[in-house]
Amino acid sequence: CLTVEIPQRTLVVLCGSAGSGKSTFAHNLIARHKNQGLKPTVIVSSDQCRAMISDDEANQFVNRDTFDLFHFIIHKRMFQDRFTIADSTALQVEARQRLLALAQRHHYHTCLFIFNIPPALCIQRDQQRQRLVGEQVIAYHTNLLQQALLDAPKENWNQLHILDEHTKVELAFLPN
Ligand code: GTP
Ligand code: MG
Repeated sequence: CLTVEIPQRTLVVLCGSAGSGKSTFAHNLIARHKNQGLKPTVIVSSDQCRAMISDDEANQFVNRDTFDLFHFIIHKRMFQDRFTIADSTALQVEARQRLLALAQRHHYHTCLFIFNIPPALCIQRDQQRQRLVGEQVIAYHTNLLQQALLDAPKENWNQLHILDEHTKVELAFLPN
């Protein structure tokens, strides 16, 4: 079990392929920290933003508005000093930079979790769920993931953790 010590004013950014288990991880994490006041609303999900705009979690034609909304919600949460988990693939350097810059503007602590999950497992999990992303997209994401693993240590994250399919994470909130 990996214990991650973070202040309340932290932006946790999830980074990983479709089917790597990011949303599941986020929901399990807040369920385990319920007694510390974490609610499902700490998770800001790009797929949920997509659905809010278009009634379709998979609609790729509304990317711009989806991410405008995604960043806007995160930005507004930071004004309220709320602990926040950004649930999107964040595989592209620009996507991570935008989240990092936003956090830095608010003097937030930043914590990046990279999901280093074998593509075969992502594909297998993808096939078991309702909304299929498909092997081609996961193959593309796997390439981006390799680049992210190389790039992220050079980016200015306060914390960087690389998770595999066995890693269990426990949060320890530091006093303000
Ligand atoms: P995208 O939202 O498409 O980027 O995927 P994601 O990274 O959020 O993956 P998600 O959490 O939706 O997980 C994909 C599928 O794998 C779901 O059906 C989950 O139930 C399953 N899954 C996720 N994590 C685990 C795990 O640790 N063990 C098992 N057995 N299944 C998991
Ligand atoms: Mg997800």
